[in-house]
Amino acid sequence: MIRPHRWDGRALYLIDQRRLPHEEVWVPCRTAREVAGAIRDMVVRGAPAIGVAAAYGLALEARRLAASADPAALDDVVRALEEAAEVLTAARPTAVNLAWAVQRLRRLWRDAGSALMTPASLADRLAREAEAVDAEDVDMNRAIARHGSPLLAGVTGVLTHCNTGGLATAGIGTALGVIAAAAAGGGLHVYATETRPYLQGARLTAWELVKQGIPATLVTDGAAGYLMRTGRVQAVITGADRIAANGDVANKIGTYTLAVLAWAHGIPFYVAAPRSTIDPATPSGDHIQIEMRPPEEVTHWQGRPVAPEGIAVLNPAFDVTPAALVTAIITDVGVARPPYERSLAALVQAAGATAPAVSGGGSRA
Ligand code: MRU
Repeated sequence: MIRPHRWDGRALYLIDQRRLPHEEVWVPCRTAREVAGAIRDMVVRGAPAIGVAAAYGLALEARRLAASADPAALDDVVRALEEAAEVLTAARPTAVNLAWAVQRLRRLWRDAGSALMTPASLADRLAREAEAVDAEDVDMNRAIARHGSPLLAGVTGVLTHCNTGGLATAGIGTALGVIAAAAAGGGLHVYATETRPYLQGARLTAWELVKQGIPATLVTDGAAGYLMRTGRVQAVITGADRIAANGDVANKIGTYTLAVLAWAHGIPFYVAAPRSTIDPATPSGDHIQIEMRPPEEVTHWQGRPVAPEGIAVLNPAFDVTPAALVTAIITDVGVARPPYERSLAALVQAAGATAPAVSGGGSRA
């Protein structure tokens, strides 16, 4: 299984996704600020993966603080952890998994009642919780693949966008996990978009597909309409960074375009995501903050300019696909169909919600 991180209890090692597929370099992180920097700079990316990294970031910070703290100084440690939690949450605003994981660990020091806790015991509890967030994502990925793969029965060509595989999660991936499970039966060909400007598709998804031996073709983002019109593709499946209560889906820039194209060609458009990506506190996509990335990601490639100096650039990292264009949302607890207000709420409730409500986080309000 391809994993974006390794954890040894003292450090979090992240595979530097900026250098893939050419080099496999592992970056050690020992503080929450180092983890936040790695998330901001895209050493690690993908909604579930940055949530897991943030959880380990808080565990590392607690351990570091406990090592030098007076055993009675729990309040000071908690204050410092609150600051670290803010820094981590602010690293990237759109993917709710980040705020979700931070909130989940924060509950341990906010709700647990600190009377019997010491900095050392709090650090242990945070480490165990981060490991649980990691392990649960592995299980949720498997469940998503199980629920989603039947939807691709009979499909011979599927289009996917960005990277939603092992590198973007703790497990086998979301949309790419579904694809891998469906491809195991044979007869499925995957079309992966390059995913401008950061090339998660060309660099990361293509790398994973080749490594896993899944029949696949890399295409430019602009080729999607051609693929649908010529019948090469009969379904689209992507991941998500945040799913609002009404089923609107924030995902990598270009996802909305693919959904409109799929609708125009009568092709199903599926979204695969764990429960940690569903944000019941965000009523619709209009409330989702879209991260704007640096202009250099568009004007330069590997430090070399590809556009004239002086040109203005807009570089939104994500867009919102309205629920009306989404055929189904594949989660770890089942497949939701429209109307999503009802189906998503019912699925999450039936499974016993894991998602602590995230207030603020990526919300625009
Ligand atoms: O900017 P990125 O690379 O973090 O964006 C990632 C995506 O948009 C993925 O499609 C999404 O996080 C789902 S990953 C399972």
